[in-house]
Amino acid sequence: MQKKAVLFDLDGVLVTTDDCHYRAWKQMADEEHIPFTRTDNERLRGVSRMASLEIVLEKAARAYSEEEKLALAERKNRYYVQLIRKLTDAAILPGARETVIRLREAGVLTAVASSSKNARLILTQVGLIDLFDAIIDGTQITKSKPDPEVVLKAAELRHKKPQDCIVVEDADAGIAAAKSAGMYAVAVGNAHGGDLHYSGLDSVDLLKLAVGKETK
Ligand code: BG6
Ligand code: MG
Repeated sequence: MQKKAVLFDLDGVLVTTDDCHYRAWKQMADEEHIPFTRTDNERLRGVSRMASLEIVLEKAARAYSEEEKLALAERKNRYYVQLIRKLTDAAILPGARETVIRLREAGVLTAVASSSKNARLILTQVGLIDLFDAIIDGTQITKSKPDPEVVLKAAELRHKKPQDCIVVEDADAGIAAAKSAGMYAVAVGNAHGGDLHYSGLDSVDLLKLAVGKETK
């Protein structure tokens, strides 16, 4: 049986950046007097920056022009980048590094397929950048998840057919992207709709799934 490639989402699967996103959106929202809670932040999981902004602005008291929206998104990103520049390997989620290393040692192709335009900065910051055969991020796609573009591009880059790819995702939008690409979807955390569901990478045996045989 051919080995499958494993395509990892970044935020919420390999690293925890939720708090940085929350604090950056919160600062921008407070300055604009827009209510924003951690529950609101959950809705932004897997959603692109501009689509996230539209969700944040649902609670705004006034309408914003396209130019203003771009400025707000840039401002949020400035705050976010200041925070992620302080990340260390402590932001790597339990089991993530070990899982990727184990897959690579077994000759399984690994990739990151993320909507974030900051994916490479985050991977560098936490020391995971060299562990992947391919990285497709928010700077290389025109349509964000749930569109399958990001996972299809990652598969193409490594000459893998969709049916030979396993996607690991913590967002409903990412699971939807994987399914519409025709890939196998492993949901972690609170994501719904996957072929399998686990709490995190410390509890899933991806090698078994990728190689198709008992490994433990
Ligand atoms: C995703 C996050 O990975 O990236 C979303 O789950 C975020 O919350 C999106 O909005 C875009 O991130 P960035 O870094 O390009 O603003
Ligand atoms: Mg995610």
